[in-house]
Amino acid sequence: MAADILRVEKLSKSFSGRLVIDNLSFRVAEGELSAIIGPNGAGKTTLFNLITGYHVPDSGKIIFNGQNIAGLQPFKTVRLGLARAFQRTNIFPKMTVLENVVSACITRQERNLNFRTPYKKLTQIHQRAYEILDSVGLTAMAQRLSGTLAHGNQKLLDIAVALALEPRLLLLDEPTAGMSPDERWQTVALVKDLWERLKVTMVFIEHDMDIVFGISQKIRVLCYGNLLAEGTPKEISNNLKVIEVYLGEKPMMDEAC
Ligand SMILES: Nc1ncnc2c1ncn2[C@@H]1O[C@H](COP(=O)(O)OP(=O)(O)O)[C@@H](O)[C@H]1O
Ligand SMILES: [Mg+2]
Repeated sequence: MAADILRVEKLSKSFSGRLVIDNLSFRVAEGELSAIIGPNGAGKTTLFNLITGYHVPDSGKIIFNGQNIAGLQPFKTVRLGLARAFQRTNIFPKMTVLENVVSACITRQERNLNFRTPYKKLTQIHQRAYEILDSVGLTAMAQRLSGTLAHGNQKLLDIAVALALEPRLLLLDEPTAGMSPDERWQTVALVKDLWERLKVTMVFIEHDMDIVFGISQKIRVLCYGNLLAEGTPKEISNNLKVIEVYLGEKPMMDEAC
């Protein structure tokens, strides 16, 4: 059995006295492709913000690769091998597509770069950036200003930027949000392909149940900041609690969980 790359232990976070993540615990095995589902406001993005250091938890631990990273700033979590693509993309719109990815590659190499860095090394970074753009199908747009890309391509660029950080764990917050049905499935195929080729552990948040049940090895259902259920797609689709509040004919989770 694979070791756990991430352990969330008794994690809690409230905003203005309102508990958004409530004593939440779960484990992610190294190499896993898993989904987090749950209604709007369940705390899914907040969970990613806690894991990647954008929020400091009120209590609890986040053990990544054996180290408690709770409260560690985002640039430090990146150095440890955590990266994420955002629900609302996090690219520099006035930089070109290539520059966005090069910047992320440089961030990855930060400690090894300075004014004496040989030209060859900088050329290697450019080559690496092009490889990453190729892996998400954006090579032809390398010189475009990122802000001028269509929404779907901006989402792909956000994934490319995350990949340039060479993460061991990649968190994808609604990678297909706002895409057309065709774009959604292309992106899902791409995510699955990247997972298979790069062997990176991936956790993604997604609302489309066909996608979630189509590609996940494991699904976690979040409800009011709590784990309602976790299991394989088969286990989740047979889980009476989940069926009652989320997957039934009339999903009631927004009100009832
Ligand atoms: N920075 C913040 N300040 C105050 N409330 C927040 C903040 N971030 C999230 N929330 C609240 O926490 C709840 C969960 O939000 P979120 O994690 O974005 O949910 P989800 O991603 O599952 O839709 C929501 O009610 C949201 O308004
Ligand atoms: Mg969200």
